[in-house]
Amino acid sequence: MNALLRQTQIYLGGVSGRRPRVPIDALRLEEEARRRLRPDAYACIAAGAGDERTLVANRVAFDRWRIVPRMLRDVERRNTTIELFGRRLDSPFLLAPIGVLELAHPQADAAVARAARSTRMPMIFSNQSSRPMEELAGMLDDVSHWFQLYWSKSDELVESLVARAEACRCEAIVVTLDTTVLGWRPRDLERAYLPFLRGKGIAQYTSDPVFRRIISEPAPGPPPEQQPKPRLQALATLISLTRAYPGGFVETLRSGRGRAAVQRFIDLYSRPSLRWDDLPFLRERTDLPIVLKGVLHPDDALRAVDAGVDGIVVSNHGGRQVDGSIATLEALPGVVEAVDGRIPVLLDSGVRGGADAFKALALGARAVLLGRPYVYGLAIAGSLGVREVIQNIRADFELTMALAGCRSVDEIGPEALVPGGPLPASS
Ligand SMILES: Cc1cc2nc3c(=O)[nH]c(=O)nc-3n(C[C@H](O)[C@H](O)[C@H](O)COP(=O)(O)O)c2cc1C
Repeated sequence: MNALLRQTQIYLGGVSGRRPRVPIDALRLEEEARRRLRPDAYACIAAGAGDERTLVANRVAFDRWRIVPRMLRDVERRNTTIELFGRRLDSPFLLAPIGVLELAHPQADAAVARAARSTRMPMIFSNQSSRPMEELAGMLDDVSHWFQLYWSKSDELVESLVARAEACRCEAIVVTLDTTVLGWRPRDLERAYLPFLRGKGIAQYTSDPVFRRIISEPAPGPPPEQQPKPRLQALATLISLTRAYPGGFVETLRSGRGRAAVQRFIDLYSRPSLRWDDLPFLRERTDLPIVLKGVLHPDDALRAVDAGVDGIVVSNHGGRQVDGSIATLEALPGVVEAVDGRIPVLLDSGVRGGADAFKALALGARAVLLGRPYVYGLAIAGSLGVREVIQNIRADFELTMALAGCRSVDEIGPEALVPGGPLPASS
């Protein structure tokens, strides 16, 4: 749907007394989602590391640049498509990999996949998703989808996940580099809430043949019958764990497999010892494009190119890992310069509207990832909510591009921006 159609659809709805169900403004979108979500779920999605200065910095960095629109350039026909790894995509947006979406909606990733399919929006499956990649890929059909990998301590598990992604016709493997350990997130710590411990967001593991074999092997520690009897609250947690693990409920509970799955997931999920030397292991095992997510330093970007990877996502994980980290838009020009056009550079963290995407593209990004806003749409109205958020941000981008005097994404360059002065206090 092009931008004018989207605008017209909304305004015509108003004539018959209908207002959009999902807020269009990014702050109101978050506020509405906050009202609907359980407090611990909202905190977990919104949380940043430490004092959440990086969350703020990501937004402020966009405000530091101003667009200088150009006039009389015939923007009646507009082309928002881009090319990425041999595929033409309708717009320069992809859905960021976001784990534990069952916190936002019971249909979780399945609702997102439905929205991605109906809008033809590329989706990156999270390693921590609430649904197995096979189910999601089946729903997406020919709509572009990628798989995001957390590099496990088990090589065999890494191989298995990558092979499954290939079998699911994923078009790239995104290796997230910035979460080899979990950041210090006060909002989650104060609630003592970690969804994985409750069996949420581990569907890629419990559906994996290698992981299932690993948990069937005797685990270190006392056997289930010698473990302390759970108290009432812990029992509720165990029940939710067993739901995450396929098989009979009582049988899974009795055998302790749900708990074992979570314990083994915690042991294995990431490899803090990961080094640049490990990348050839992955390169040798897949012909799919490899994209490194979380690069912020130009020297790391250079190493990525030298390592033969195919793309980079400039990301600070939405401010969830290092409090006080450089904002992604600040990091982008240095990374783009280092890469010098050899591989595509994408950006995420803080993209909330069409103008943000325009600025990122003007500074050299090929595309941007949309993160929390689609989760908020999911929380408000399920699949329909995700669809609305996607349609709105794309329309906003297309109109910004046209009004800035660009007919196509190729025409968006650094000359469209100037550094801005301090912003006036908002009224
Ligand atoms: C609740 C939540 C879960 C996330 N899970 C993952 C994940 O499983 N894998 C990953 O690479 N990034 C994950 N991310 C980071 C996103 O991919 C993306 O980098 C981030 O959301 C961008 O910031 P923004 O949402 O503020 O735009 C997660 C982010 C949030 C908010």
